[in-house]
Amino acid sequence: MVFVCSLVLLLKFIFLYSLFSFTFTTCFPLIHQKCHDDESHALLQFKKGFHINKSASLNPFGYPKTASWNSSTDCCSWDGITCDEQTNQVIQIDLSSSQLYGTMDANSSLFRLVHLRKLDLSDNDFKNSQIPSRIGELSQLEYLKLLDTNVFGEIPPQISQLSKLLFLQLGVPRIASSKGMLVSQLNLKLSTLRSLIQNSTKLETLGLGLVTIASTLPDTLTNLTSLKRLIFSKCELHGEFPLGVFHLPNLKVLDLGYNPNLSGRLPEFQSSSLTKLGLGYTSFNGTLPVSIGKLSSLNLLSIRDCNFFGYIPSSFSNLTQLMYIDLRYNKFKGDLSASIANITKLDHLGVGFNEFTVDTISWIGKLTSLVALDISSVNIGSDIPLSFANLTQLEELDAGSCNLRGEIPSWIMNLTNLVSFDVAYNFLHGNVELNKFLKLKRLVFLSLSFNKLLLYSGKSSSRITDSRIQVLSLDSCNLVEIPTFIRDLSDVEFLSLSENNIQSLPNWLWKKESLQDLKVSNNSLTGAISPSICNLKSLLGLDLSLNNFSGNVPSCLGNFSQSLEILKINGNKLSGLIPQTYMIGNALHQIDLSNNNLQGQLPRELINSRRLEYFDVSHNNINDSFPFWLGDLPELKVLGLSNNEFHGDIRCSGNMKCTFPKLHIIDLSHNEFSGSFPPEMIQSWKAMKTSNTSQLQYDQSSQVVEITNREATVTRKDPYSFMMSNKGLVMTYEKLQQFYSNFIAIDISSNKISGEIPQVIGDLNGLILLNLSNNILNGSIPLSFGKLSNLEALDLSLNNLSGKIPQQLAQLTFLEFLNVSFNNLSGPVPQNKQFATFQDNSFEGNHGLCGEQLLKKCIDHRGPSFSPPSSSDDDHESESFFELYWNVILIGYVGGLVGGVALGSAFYPDVIGWLKRFF
Ligand SMILES: *[C@@H]1O[C@H](CO)[C@@H](O)[C@H](O)[C@H]1NC(C)=O
Ligand SMILES: *[C@@H]1O[C@H](CO)[C@@H](O)[C@H](O)[C@H]1NC(C)=O
Ligand SMILES: *[C@@H]1O[C@H](CO)[C@@H](O)[C@H](O)[C@H]1NC(C)=O
Ligand SMILES: *[C@@H]1O[C@H](CO)[C@@H](O)[C@H](O)[C@H]1NC(C)=O
Ligand SMILES: *[C@@H]1O[C@H](CO)[C@@H](O)[C@H](O)[C@H]1NC(C)=O
Ligand SMILES: *[C@@H]1O[C@H](CO)[C@@H](O)[C@H](O)[C@H]1NC(C)=O
Ligand SMILES: *[C@@H]1O[C@H](CO)[C@@H](O)[C@H](O)[C@H]1NC(C)=O
Repeated sequence: MVFVCSLVLLLKFIFLYSLFSFTFTTCFPLIHQKCHDDESHALLQFKKGFHINKSASLNPFGYPKTASWNSSTDCCSWDGITCDEQTNQVIQIDLSSSQLYGTMDANSSLFRLVHLRKLDLSDNDFKNSQIPSRIGELSQLEYLKLLDTNVFGEIPPQISQLSKLLFLQLGVPRIASSKGMLVSQLNLKLSTLRSLIQNSTKLETLGLGLVTIASTLPDTLTNLTSLKRLIFSKCELHGEFPLGVFHLPNLKVLDLGYNPNLSGRLPEFQSSSLTKLGLGYTSFNGTLPVSIGKLSSLNLLSIRDCNFFGYIPSSFSNLTQLMYIDLRYNKFKGDLSASIANITKLDHLGVGFNEFTVDTISWIGKLTSLVALDISSVNIGSDIPLSFANLTQLEELDAGSCNLRGEIPSWIMNLTNLVSFDVAYNFLHGNVELNKFLKLKRLVFLSLSFNKLLLYSGKSSSRITDSRIQVLSLDSCNLVEIPTFIRDLSDVEFLSLSENNIQSLPNWLWKKESLQDLKVSNNSLTGAISPSICNLKSLLGLDLSLNNFSGNVPSCLGNFSQSLEILKINGNKLSGLIPQTYMIGNALHQIDLSNNNLQGQLPRELINSRRLEYFDVSHNNINDSFPFWLGDLPELKVLGLSNNEFHGDIRCSGNMKCTFPKLHIIDLSHNEFSGSFPPEMIQSWKAMKTSNTSQLQYDQSSQVVEITNREATVTRKDPYSFMMSNKGLVMTYEKLQQFYSNFIAIDISSNKISGEIPQVIGDLNGLILLNLSNNILNGSIPLSFGKLSNLEALDLSLNNLSGKIPQQLAQLTFLEFLNVSFNNLSGPVPQNKQFATFQDNSFEGNHGLCGEQLLKKCIDHRGPSFSPPSSSDDDHESESFFELYWNVILIGYVGGLVGGVALGSAFYPDVIGWLKRFF
């Protein structure tokens, strides 16, 4: 059987922390004068309110500025304090990165310093306290910076009283900072933003990165004519971005990245001082205007993962100041060379995952400053160009799916700065000695997967190597054993060796305690799974699927790692019981035990897996009653129990909650369930009542592992795939999270379910697939099915259903597959364009049915009138939408590489994504 696995590795390069560092231009000469007692006192009181804690600041050069403050010295001379020359009043406080740890008190003595013009408390830890509303009392403030301070909650409306502000930055500048603040902690009401815009008309810098605003941006933003820097990255903005902002005369930096629902387009540019433009991960669309060539100061352009298309205009070659270009994951086409070849200052060039073509790519060798190059999916069709040997600064080379030929040239080892080297999915051949890669001392990420390479370890180095390789992807590399090379990698965390011919796992593997992800699916592994595997206590993901493992499952497997998220042992020959213990608070998201010979009952301890989203035991010999108790799992979305020996009624019992609050997909087919299909159960499946994708989302959190080298971050995410029969075929739904997050399906076929089909199924209007075939259902097809407006496949065959096929089914414009064969249905088959596409085998075995599909004329003239399609135009439209919809899915399903989603600002961490799959 063909099975599908995939691995997503996102390598983030965080750089440019200082991108938005801002020099406060007003001069305040520092002259030593006696400061005012009350101010000195207020400052000392402020100092007392905090502990000094090293980990409260991320900046390695930070130090506790307040430590030297004491009452015997002039406060105007204290570290971080500046006083006014004439009045000796404290006018500036800069306590950024001062390792302050404690709460921001609403009564803080800080608010007594009413002459303050500058306040910078960035990079301290205020322990989830709120920004006090009294901030509005500091009416002289011109500069307020509270970045990365671990403050929480609503930004007080009083902030808009600061009408003298020139500079305001709140929120978090760096995503995936080691404080782990991936989620927004601050929010700003639209009304506050409006007043701020109205009142603080002199603003030059408005930075609200990672502050939740969750609205459209007001047009009045264009009134802030002094704006130089506008940063709204990851603010949950939506709606249309006000075009006028691009024309603000002083605008230098515009960052709107990571607002996926923010739409907009690029304007006709006038000459402008714009230097940085970040629109990555938004819904901006359209083409690049020719006038983009007028942005002669632009040095950063990040528009990855937007909806841009078309050719890069030749005027682009005018942008010679560009150092950073990221166009990845759009639909640009045409030959790149003309527009980019002469931009020689480039250090980052990301053009991958578009539809670019190239006649020749050797010109890239002229871009000798390149540090990162992503040309993934550009069809190169030749050897790795020799000119790349010129790129000696290169730290990252991503050339997956480039139709590369030939061997991996030996001069690659001359690129000694390489941190990441990815040539997966090409046609490279030849022998590769893995040990050679140890010469690349900075190499962290190596992917040679899916080529035609023959790998061997090479001469074993006797000494412990100092290789930094952490991510190693050698899928489909003709390996017959785990390369001993790996034994020498002391830091290896991600190991992907699927689709090889590996026959056994060496014992040294169990000592690799740094391993976080081990994937050896689809090899030829035999024998029992060694219980020593449970020594790998750092594992987040373990994939042993599609091998020939036999014997019992080690009982520790459910319980060896508090951090394990993914456990896949499906597609083996394992027998015995499912592991019985699952520790409380475990992190399991996915358990796939399908296609083995497991027996006994489902362990009730599974209920400890509160984060479980995906549980599949299909195709085993489990003998149990309906596991209604799994309905208490708050995150469970996919439940596969098909092809086992489950029996009895499908219902809840006892006092247990059995609501299955997030269930999307349930497959109970091919068991011995009996009784009726209880309406109460169906009603409780609330998640199936929505087609609103945002409510259906799978857990997007994935492990982010910081890699010290070049501050790269690898994100591991295993997409779920689920096999289910649909339209009479067994389908694998790959990457559920990405492509099928609104795939809602019920399959209870081939059981012994009796009684009538409950009307309430019609309320599950998110349903896409419903299969009730091969049961002993009677009664008629509920009219309520006409409400299942998203339904694409309906199988009611092989039951005892009677009556007519409801005319309402003709309203289901997405219905692509219908099977009502072998029932006792009668009357005319509804006639419309939709139904005309169904063949006679959809209806056969129903003696009373008539209609064109059955070549059997309906002679009952009193039958329902055949309502014509409401309007042929409408019909046409929905049809083309339908096609479009499927094309989108097919790109993911059949095509090679598709875009991933990652967190981060469009500027700071540049995220390089691999989203790779194979059959
Ligand atoms: C605007 O600023 C003035 C002066 O600081 C203040 O009195 C007023 O309340 C502010 N308006 C808003 C809506 O905050
Ligand atoms: C601000 O902009 C709005 C519309 O964008 C305009 O009606 C209003 O007059 C402007 N206010 C000022 C003070 O310029
Ligand atoms: C661009 O996006 C807007 C807003 O979502 C949409 O109305 C428009 O049709 C899109 N344009 C193109 C050319 O895709
Ligand atoms: C190229 O840049 C110059 C200024 O450096 C500008 O005058 C000219 O219009 C630009 N050309 C195009 C085609 O945009
Ligand atoms: C690149 O620059 C060279 C020399 O300045 C010039 O001859 C060539 O035409 C330029 N190429 C493009 C595509 O602009
Ligand atoms: C290598 O770089 C030099 C400039 O450093 C350049 O002159 C040369 O053409 C480049 N070679 C190739 C093959 O691109
Ligand atoms: C690679 O480095 C070696 C040794 O430094 C040198 O001899 C060789 O010419 C280099 N190869 C290329 C293609 O630059």
